[in-house]
Amino acid sequence: MRSLPLRRRELLGMTAGTLAAGLPRTLPAGAEIRFGTAVSADVLARDPAYAELVRRECVLLVPEWEMKWAAVQPEPGRFDFRGLDRIAAFARGNGMALRGHALLWHREAPAWLADRLTPANCESLLRAHFTEVMERHAGLTDSWDVVNEAVEPEDGRADGLRRSFWLERAGEGYIETAFRIAAERAPGAELVYNEYGCEHDGDWSRRRRAAVLRLLERLKGDGVPVHALGLQAHLQAGAPFSSAGLAAFLREVRALGLRVLVTELDVRGGGPGSPAERDAEVASLYRAFLDTVLEQASCDTVVTWGLSDRHSWLRREAGPEERPLPFDEELRPKPAWTALREALAAAEGRHR
Ligand code: G3I
Repeated sequence: MRSLPLRRRELLGMTAGTLAAGLPRTLPAGAEIRFGTAVSADVLARDPAYAELVRRECVLLVPEWEMKWAAVQPEPGRFDFRGLDRIAAFARGNGMALRGHALLWHREAPAWLADRLTPANCESLLRAHFTEVMERHAGLTDSWDVVNEAVEPEDGRADGLRRSFWLERAGEGYIETAFRIAAERAPGAELVYNEYGCEHDGDWSRRRRAAVLRLLERLKGDGVPVHALGLQAHLQAGAPFSSAGLAAFLREVRALGLRVLVTELDVRGGGPGSPAERDAEVASLYRAFLDTVLEQASCDTVVTWGLSDRHSWLRREAGPEERPLPFDEELRPKPAWTALREALAAAEGRHR
């Protein structure tokens, strides 16, 4: 993918067959929309064919695990960047950028962190961690998921915040503190609040959208340096979805002066039916979702959570029959890849 200029898209055509021909790497372009994917250092090392696909199609990489707190600071003051450094070396060697994921999350936190965290030391713990992580490959990383998944309406709080150890141990101010420290450590970087469950229609998503908007309104109202909402976009074919419903939510996000990123796109399910029928249903949702986001929001980043079904986290989580990504088990492009390219092409066509 690597963000084709329009002329190359015309040359390439949009057929999956064209792409299957193993076309040479597409030229990087100064296109408006960066496309990338989440990668694991181990997978890049052990699967050279997959690494070549990533190199050919992406201008942006996100460490799937290697930048999370448990990976980089497993013990207090001991930093381990071996996994992240391997991904950064791959990115640097292929002219790619990195997205930082995730500076603060309630999962993948080492036990010592929850044990030690208090309102009094939250700022110093965050500053020590953020300083090391944000400076490690500062030249490669211009966009950060500063806080990940901080809302959980099912936890019953009036403000919709998740009853995580961050909230329980450090108090509600931890989110603002995280963004202010990130802005201090990486002036000029794009600071993102990343969340799931805002893409579909239905009561569950409606509550999540409301909680996210409430949080973002509060942060913006308090002058907190948050620049964008990251829509993780772990979608479900067959679940209620309407462009109108998502568009209305995105208009409220834009009204806060926030950009939007698509940060972890994949589409579960589709079916029952043949793989071809399921792939078609999945592709249809890729297109409908991306068209809506790219039409309604200021969005310059689309990241899938993996490129091939071969390495999807959903194969580990939900079983080997999952087909959520743009390329299949054999690294062949699927209808979802065509849908994704067409959505990006249409968006870039609108920008010209
Ligand atoms: O624990 C080992 C560690 O000891 C080893 O050094 C490392 C080497 O690769 O692997 C670790 O294994 C697992 C890791 O993925 C790498 O595969 C971890 O146990 C496992 O918890 C981790 O799962 C990741 C999960 O986030 C939790 O971090 C998934 O790969 C990743 O796809 C998933 O991604 C999340 C996003 O970050 C946030 N949004 C939801 C999304 C899906 O859950």
